[in-house]
Amino acid sequence: MSINNKTQDLKARMQALLKGGGEKAVEKQKASGKLTARERILEILDEGSFHEYDIFVQHSGKDFDMDKKILPADGVITGTGTINGYPICIYAQDFTVAGGSLGYMHAKKICKIMDHAMKLKVPIIGINDSGGARIQEGVNALAGYGEIFYRNTMASGVIPQISVILGPCAGGAVYSPALTDFVFVVDNISKMFITGPDVIKTVLGEEISQEDLGGARVHAEISGNAHFFAESEKECFEQIKELFTYIPWNNTKKAENFPSKKPKAKDYKINQIFPTDPKIPYDVRLIIRSLVDDSSFLEVQEHYARNIVIGFARINGETVGFVANQPMHMAGVLDCNSSDKAARFVRFCDAFQIPLITLEDLPGYLPGVDQEHAGVIRHGAKILYAFSEATVPKITVILRKAYGGGYIAMCSNHLKADFVFAWTTAEIAVMGPEGAANIIFRNEILSAENPEEMRQVKIKEYKDKFTNPYVAASYGYVDAVIQPSETRQYIIHALEMTKNKEVENPYKKHGIPPF
Ligand code: HXC
Repeated sequence: MSINNKTQDLKARMQALLKGGGEKAVEKQKASGKLTARERILEILDEGSFHEYDIFVQHSGKDFDMDKKILPADGVITGTGTINGYPICIYAQDFTVAGGSLGYMHAKKICKIMDHAMKLKVPIIGINDSGGARIQEGVNALAGYGEIFYRNTMASGVIPQISVILGPCAGGAVYSPALTDFVFVVDNISKMFITGPDVIKTVLGEEISQEDLGGARVHAEISGNAHFFAESEKECFEQIKELFTYIPWNNTKKAENFPSKKPKAKDYKINQIFPTDPKIPYDVRLIIRSLVDDSSFLEVQEHYARNIVIGFARINGETVGFVANQPMHMAGVLDCNSSDKAARFVRFCDAFQIPLITLEDLPGYLPGVDQEHAGVIRHGAKILYAFSEATVPKITVILRKAYGGGYIAMCSNHLKADFVFAWTTAEIAVMGPEGAANIIFRNEILSAENPEEMRQVKIKEYKDKFTNPYVAASYGYVDAVIQPSETRQYIIHALEMTKNKEVENPYKKHGIPPF
């Protein structure tokens, strides 16, 4: 065969494979509002950067007449490319080919690109659109999942791992995403469940739609399995690209620095956002925006456990991770879900050299039977563990309330924050003045001629003595009491001072966090 003929032969082979599951299946995919696997990759990566590998891989199924079937690229597209010039390994399951189901060779392709990502020390993006283990391949399909889960675990904390859920993801297809760092979902397209509605009906007799069981909103708002929610695939891809401006390629590198930009002072004025009355709530996200470059903040898990806010921003050009109590929701208390949410984020930032800025305003951990029975002790301990273990620069600003366990948990001096700054409005105490007065002055209040009057006197007495930043500052637990308007400048200085921070935790194989 001449070179020309060989070229024609290659083109013909490629053309057949590039059709995926065929016209009809592609039409069905489009009719459900979804792009094809290759289109998705091309939308995410920089133009012209995608290089596909292993397109000729074929499935190895033999049973149920599978040996007579051709499954182009075995239902998964793998390759490398760039995002904002950033090298990336990527795979996308092709639902038009056997429902994107995962057979042995399909899994081998995913494992191979994951191994590349680890070897090249670059992030991996997995676009999931799959019916789960390929039923005809039996245990080989299960083995494939096991190999992927193992690699997800080994890659955890070494390279960023991103999962994009763009279709029904059932069975094994949901556990790999659960092991990765960030899960992106799209309204009406993403579905995640271990067992679908049919199994639930058979086993439990309950009827539920796929959407209500595991739709995008369910995972963004209720289960907390998703970190980013979008209305469309296009919006989702923009979110992914934005995330990549904040995070590094791997755990040996710092995230890229950008030119420093001032916050948009006209739009975000601290003295207008922060109420003078300590009982009035406010949106802590506006405080964050008033402090960060260009007032840009990429919130993570925006719709879940809204009593805590987490996300990325830049200060003086450097990426930082924010953890902030949100007084607008449940007064910013810590509970099971908000502790889980914050702890995981702290660990991501710590693994990838991203300094942590904690903004504190909370009345403590949420009391109540529901929380106690749901394990608030175990869940609440996760945030203590995560902040204590973190060795990246840790800067804490106490805005208002810092009561009880909440004071300690929100990266206090005692969990080895590098700097703790308290606004003049800070109230650092073992509990709120009302509760405290009721307990320690109970006898005086009960025996007073006018108990209510006495109660108010005692509350004021307690408030005057303890609900300010100066008692904590007198013990050195607060490094500086500052004006709100000085916060950005103090944080910038603290980031500069901690640039070469070196802290090593005691040698251990690994700790045992309260999972
Ligand atoms: C083989 C599969 C498949 C699977 C779908 N297909 N899932 N083939 N194995 N797991 C095939 C279908 O037969 C069909 O082939 C094509 O993909 C498209 O599927 P449809 O059902 O027509 O699409 P749709 O109506 O959109 O429904 C999608 C779906 C449904 C909700 C995902 O297919 C489904 O429920 N699949 C099974 C899900 C499941 O139970 N998975 C768990 C596997 S066990 P044709 O040829 O007709 O086009 C597992 C355990 C791992 O994953 C545990 C690890 C811890």
